[in-house]
Amino acid sequence: MPEPSLPIGRHYPWLAPLAGFSDLPFRLLCREYGAAVCVTEMVSAKGLVYASSETTDLLATTPEDRPLVIQIFGAEASFLSRAVALLRDQGFVWFDLNMGCSVRKVLRQGAGAAMLDNTGNALEAARVMLDAAGPGMVGFKLRLCPDEARAPFSRLKTLALRLQDMGAGWLTLHPRTAKQGFGGKADWDALTELAQCLTIPLLASGDLTDARTGVRCLDATGADGLMYARGALRNPAVFAEHLKLCRGEAAAPLDTDVLRAMILRHIALTRQLAPDKPRFWKMRAVIPRYVRDLPGARALRDRLCRCADLRAVEEALDIFWYTIKNSASSPVPQEAEKFSGRDA
Ligand SMILES: Cc1cc2nc3c(=O)[nH]c(=O)nc-3n(C[C@H](O)[C@H](O)[C@H](O)COP(=O)(O)O)c2cc1C
Repeated sequence: MPEPSLPIGRHYPWLAPLAGFSDLPFRLLCREYGAAVCVTEMVSAKGLVYASSETTDLLATTPEDRPLVIQIFGAEASFLSRAVALLRDQGFVWFDLNMGCSVRKVLRQGAGAAMLDNTGNALEAARVMLDAAGPGMVGFKLRLCPDEARAPFSRLKTLALRLQDMGAGWLTLHPRTAKQGFGGKADWDALTELAQCLTIPLLASGDLTDARTGVRCLDATGADGLMYARGALRNPAVFAEHLKLCRGEAAAPLDTDVLRAMILRHIALTRQLAPDKPRFWKMRAVIPRYVRDLPGARALRDRLCRCADLRAVEEALDIFWYTIKNSASSPVPQEAEKFSGRDA
């Protein structure tokens, strides 16, 4: 049976690929808030072919984790082709080629944004992936270019049109140069320009810090859809807020009880689906982002660094919430007082 097409549009916000973060528990959390499609962290084509355990771990999924796009990085067509074939054998159907990563380790391999400097190789990589996956089943995530701002936009446009002609299902543009990394301002004008010349869907990425900004980006650029990245890392409920705004409803900020429930849900999903040490360590980095605007956030982060397991994380959070609820009115227990003191 042919695969249904991926939901792309204003009412279908995606979770962007986030190396180190868009793992199975986080994807499921974002889906519970309304993420229509999730993209995995980037997975190495060579790692897939050589079946490295690190790479295999990144493919952990469940039936609820659908539709799922596997993002691959690599520069060599032979590996990309074999990687897609192997993934298809495992039941995965949608793929994305990372042509935007600005991390030096990736650029040195000629992968990520370095592919934008070698159009011939980029097109060959696209061709083999589309051959292996089928037309429409692969997307390409682009940056403006490796190191110049707008000058070579025509080159990016040419590449985008070639990818479209070859059967790309969608394109994503993060309109920064690789040299910019995540700094500076995303160039939404470039999104507008690219959206105008494509007939396949264009997904916007870049500076989508919250739902209001996301909807504004869609309105301003004419992009067909978008991906939340750092906006989702700060607030996975951004998807619910986005959908509310699209329905014309007001999106209220999270109150502390809802925020608390969200964090506990993330911990529960991590405990259930990824209880191993590295995933747990990641939670110590993730939680402070969720509470960063609340008093005591810094102290919580320091305390989390000393936690050795998820139980200890939950205890640290209990003290944090207790402190928040009671700081204005009633005395806090000794432990909580110590804990909140440094941030007071
Ligand atoms: C921690 C982190 C990890 C990322 N990992 C990937 C990745 O694996 N593949 C990719 O194409 N982009 C990756 N990105 C880029 C995001 O998908 C997105 O394009 C970028 O953050 C711009 O969106 P934003 O400004 O709304 O965060 C990553 C970004 C961050 C912050």
